[in-house]
Amino acid sequence: MQEVTIIGSGVMGRGIAYTAAISGHKVILNDISPESLGNAEKEITNLLVKSNEKGFITEKQYDAATTNLSYEINFENAVKDADLVIEAVLERMDIKVEVFTKLDRICKKETIFATNTSTMSPTEIGAQTSRPDKVVAMHFFNPVHKMKLIEVIRGLETSDETVLYIEEISRQMNKETVEVNEFPGFVTSRMNCLIGNEAMNMLMEGVASAADIDKAMKLGLNHPMGPLELADLVGLDTRLRNMEYLYQTLGEKYRPCPLLVKYVKAGRLGKKSGSGFYDYK
Ligand SMILES: NC(=O)c1ccc[n+]([C@@H]2O[C@H](COP(=O)([O-])OP(=O)(O)OC[C@H]3O[C@@H](n4cnc5c(N)ncnc54)[C@H](O)[C@@H]3O)[C@@H](O)[C@H]2O)c1
Repeated sequence: MQEVTIIGSGVMGRGIAYTAAISGHKVILNDISPESLGNAEKEITNLLVKSNEKGFITEKQYDAATTNLSYEINFENAVKDADLVIEAVLERMDIKVEVFTKLDRICKKETIFATNTSTMSPTEIGAQTSRPDKVVAMHFFNPVHKMKLIEVIRGLETSDETVLYIEEISRQMNKETVEVNEFPGFVTSRMNCLIGNEAMNMLMEGVASAADIDKAMKLGLNHPMGPLELADLVGLDTRLRNMEYLYQTLGEKYRPCPLLVKYVKAGRLGKKSGSGFYDYK
């Protein structure tokens, strides 16, 4: 059993905490926002009860998860004994660097640091610590308990031991991994952000309605979800940050669609705010 701490209890942090807990690990979820941590506790508790009732998890997994999962607002208490820390805070390099600098000061020397960034550089993050060999990106997908893949991204100094450790703990979480050498957006976000942005451009140009763009991609190209419903699920603020980073690092073809920028300005952030390309109220 490993002690796994997750920093950030938003869309992804909650899913990672749930998945790590039903895999038999001791899990601590941390956030700077008491409100987010409280909401995460409610959502995870509901998911555990429902998954148990429906037989998606065993009674043993349910008991282990409810015993071994805790919520801790104090950063130092949350991380001081961790074997693995998985960071899932906002997609902003300045915030991530601040978190990793603190982690490096407080955690044990052996603790492995993973970032759930969708696009950014584990090399840049690792360079802010005294242990770049123990820093890696561990990219989960949304919703974490359903999606099978973890993309493991090796920074310049990431050691083989760190990659093996992450691959093993991913297997324990019943996930498959792909190993990727660092480049902005890795494999999945680089591809997916482009498709999503093009769908938004088409909507803005009046090519088709949101529902028809999504339907065309699902029924015509066999995508399990349409690109606009997927963007709503991810969160449009998070997607915009991904696009801005990719635009800055990979150039013009990643210029964020103006409609996406406008929606974020209006507070239409997708499913989590009640409306985005679709209405969820
Ligand atoms: N949403 C997705 O579908 C998705 C998928 C894969 C990866 N990601 C990546 O996961 C990360 C988190 O995304 P999200 O969608 O969960 O974001 P989110 O906005 O839902 O949650 C972020 C959380 O981080 C907390 N936070 C901010 N600063 C903090 C700090 N200093 N210490 C502790 N907590 C802090 C916030 O209070 C918030 O609860 C991002 O890097 C994102 O790119 C997102």
